[in-house]
Amino acid sequence: MCGIIAYTGHRPAVPVIIQGLKSLEYRGYDSAGLCFGHSGRLHLFRAAGKLNALEQKLEGGRVLHATSGIGHTRWATHGLPNETNAHPHLDVHYNLALVHNGIIENYQELKSMLQDCGCTFRSQTDTEVLVCLISHALEQHDSILNALAWSMSQVRGSYAFALLSKDHEGRIWAARKASPLILGAGTGENFVASDIPAFLPFTRDVVFLEDDELVEMDAGQWSVYHARTLNPVSKKIQRINWDVQAAQKGGYRHFMLKEIFEQPQVITDCLAGRMDRKHNRVTLTELEALPTPSRLHIMACGTSYHAGLWGKYVLESLARIPVNVEIASEFRYKELVEEPGTLYLSISQSGETADTLAGQRMVRQKGLPVLGLCNVVGSSVAREADSVLYTQAGPEISVASTKAMCSQLVMLYLLGLYWGQNRGTLSAREMSQNLLTLETLPQTLTSQLPDMQKRARQLCPEYSRARSFFFLGRGIYYPLALEGALKLKEISYIHAQGYPAGELKHGPIALIEQELPTFALAMQNHLLDKIGSNLMEVRARNGKIIALTNPGVELDIDEKWEIPQLGDPLNSFLALPALQLFAYEMAVYLGKDVDQPRNLAKSVTVE
Ligand code: F6R
Repeated sequence: MCGIIAYTGHRPAVPVIIQGLKSLEYRGYDSAGLCFGHSGRLHLFRAAGKLNALEQKLEGGRVLHATSGIGHTRWATHGLPNETNAHPHLDVHYNLALVHNGIIENYQELKSMLQDCGCTFRSQTDTEVLVCLISHALEQHDSILNALAWSMSQVRGSYAFALLSKDHEGRIWAARKASPLILGAGTGENFVASDIPAFLPFTRDVVFLEDDELVEMDAGQWSVYHARTLNPVSKKIQRINWDVQAAQKGGYRHFMLKEIFEQPQVITDCLAGRMDRKHNRVTLTELEALPTPSRLHIMACGTSYHAGLWGKYVLESLARIPVNVEIASEFRYKELVEEPGTLYLSISQSGETADTLAGQRMVRQKGLPVLGLCNVVGSSVAREADSVLYTQAGPEISVASTKAMCSQLVMLYLLGLYWGQNRGTLSAREMSQNLLTLETLPQTLTSQLPDMQKRARQLCPEYSRARSFFFLGRGIYYPLALEGALKLKEISYIHAQGYPAGELKHGPIALIEQELPTFALAMQNHLLDKIGSNLMEVRARNGKIIALTNPGVELDIDEKWEIPQLGDPLNSFLALPALQLFAYEMAVYLGKDVDQPRNLAKSVTVE
């Protein structure tokens, strides 16, 4: 996830771009850059680190004349977060400049083709490949529009980009596919950006661009075309009435809600470049240097620990690798029992959690291999691990983790498929089925989220009176039950306890009474009868029950909450947001500070 902005108009472009980038910094902040055309030349400024490092480079006022330009704030995907890899990227001839958010999946293939044509590259990014591809296309096409149409037919992956040409000062081209891009239509000025707040101080008139749409604009006009055919597309201008703060939340009331609704995009971003549908294989280039482990040991805290527990079920079933999962604060003080062939996996959204980092350091001191699964690029866990897999969830602002867990589940699933294919535990048919369902998941989730939110809201008046909750699940839904309980307690302050449903009768059932409701995950699978019996035990003691389940399941409960049957483990990707939305709506109903709950911090860097 990165942020891009392009401006063309009557104002000095650089301050407009810097202001826009500030409001996009939530999308990434490991480096930033901008470019503008002036006096027949492209002027490029880039800096590693936060935006103020770029601002320092711009001091001196010599940049104030340009009235068009492009800018970028980066969340590294390909290549280290340094100045060379920062955007914008220029083509070999310094004629074109490009900013890009997304992942070009076939960039290696395209890079080799361009290298064969004599093109040289300065960075490790897929973006430089894209700008060089467009420049290469310009040698065979008579206009930038035609060159873009051809280039986009060659590219696989996700992108939102903006392009500047030294020969067409004041003109900008932009396009999107599976990454957000919005046009801001001003008076005598136009914008495109990854998000509305980037231009909201200047215009409230916006055009939402769709996949495969291409914009050509200058100060006085803009046109939208279909990216392949170049047929004009007629678009409607919509007026935005949000204030800047609301716009940063994308119109959502809280960052947590926005992040829950971002999960379909997060899944798309995690899968980008990692699924080879042609050969039905998973590609994890980051792991190529690591041997397939015969045992996996996961360490993590909080929500990331729950993701690890979920991963145990998936990895053991898909790759047949035994997995041990430990809370990092316990693991770090244990005497390690070394077993040959073991790989240690640290899971951490922030990559800065003190206990996870300490566990990882203890393992590395013994010379044992560690793989990091992290969201924040360049974080301590990522830097200190032997290899790192990034989760591509983008910055998570709400303290309660939501979309990061979704991305961790996707990555653990991909790891299961990757090691399964390496160990030969999955047939070609199984691989193909798994990849197909993963591919359709974002669409299914997008269509379900609004109804899930409504259902969660309906439950609040009755259940927000509870002082305590049980969350029950079995198998793969047990870790999700733990996560549902954690979410509820951390933002609504209602006590909640997650349990494997079969364990209830060994003690906790003593607590069941009408005032202590149970939230059960009862999906249509081989354990449904078992959890059904556990729920009857609750019912017999007058306990109220909400059950998240699939259509057609018969249960004697108070509230049935149906989600479509996707099978295991795919149902998890619907169950997780349902649990998150339940906690969210309860907290809102109770008037709690959802995004910044009391006593918590986003990154726990103390022991
Ligand atoms: C819960 C939550 C925490 C974190 C935990 C680990 O919503 O956010 O439980 O999951 O502090 O943090 P990371 O994943 O950054 O190591």
